Amino acid sequence: MKVVSNTAVSLDGRINTRERRFTFFGSARDHARMSRLRAEADAVLVGGATFRNWPHPALPDEVDRPRLKTRPWNVVVSRSLDVPLAPSFLAEPAIRPLFVTRAAAVEPGFPAAVEAWAGDGDVPVGWILERLAARGVERLLVEAGGDLLFQFLAADAIDEMHVTLCPMVVGGAAPTLADGAGFDRDDVRRLRLIASEVEGDEVFLHYRNVRGGTA
Ligand SMILES: NC(=O)c1ccc[n+]([C@@H]2O[C@H](COP(=O)([O-])OP(=O)(O)OC[C@H]3O[C@@H](n4cnc5c(N)ncnc54)[C@H](OP(=O)(O)O)[C@@H]3O)[C@@H](O)[C@H]2O)c1
Repeated sequence: MKVVSNTAVSLDGRINTRERRFTFFGSARDHARMSRLRAEADAVLVGGATFRNWPHPALPDEVDRPRLKTRPWNVVVSRSLDVPLAPSFLAEPAIRPLFVTRAAAVEPGFPAAVEAWAGDGDVPVGWILERLAARGVERLLVEAGGDLLFQFLAADAIDEMHVTLCPMVVGGAAPTLADGAGFDRDDVRRLRLIASEVEGDEVFLHYRNVRGGTA
């Protein structure tokens, strides 16, 4: 499975403001790129925090939808499963909703497809990818925040990263591209630049993950 991430960051690497309400960092150009990436994916994955901020189908714009190979999975990864379950998401015919969580969090009668991890602790990234592959996912787009994206990077599960550098500074304790425990000098994740484009005040960066560490 190919795993690609897409994130809009401020100049200081933040992905939201300090109050963490739903915000768009990117411009209409960034949105158009996001739409094209969604059209290439069999599944779009977010974490519970990102979904609570924007609990809607993750679909390409109408103009890009003919490029979809399949009705895309919209995957929400949550420890608590304390997420909005609106009909506008669950009953949207253009997507296949899927929740990935701990078995203990699933109440009987949960109204959507679930992959439930029966082991201890957090749901491991490798297991998530196995379950998605079993559902036919060949190309996964990760639109998660820094909590989950750090875990994907730590598991060496990201092949390519799209990062839009947006002309703003946030500061403070706002979430970043990759949060979690962080990496040490010896295991910091390294990337190779495949493409870059400047459009207006934004810089669109496309990186390939360099496994084994030497860029
Ligand atoms: N600028 C951008 O491109 C961009 C992109 C994505 C998100 N954001 C913003 O970033 C902020 C969210 O940041 P975040 O890092 O908290 O988001 P996140 O990684 O998308 O979501 C974190 C949540 O994912 C679930 N989770 C994480 N690891 C898990 C695991 N191993 N097993 C099971 N569940 C797991 C938990 O959900 P529960 O709490 O439900 O248990 C956790 O609270 C939001 O404000 C969002 O709007 C911005």
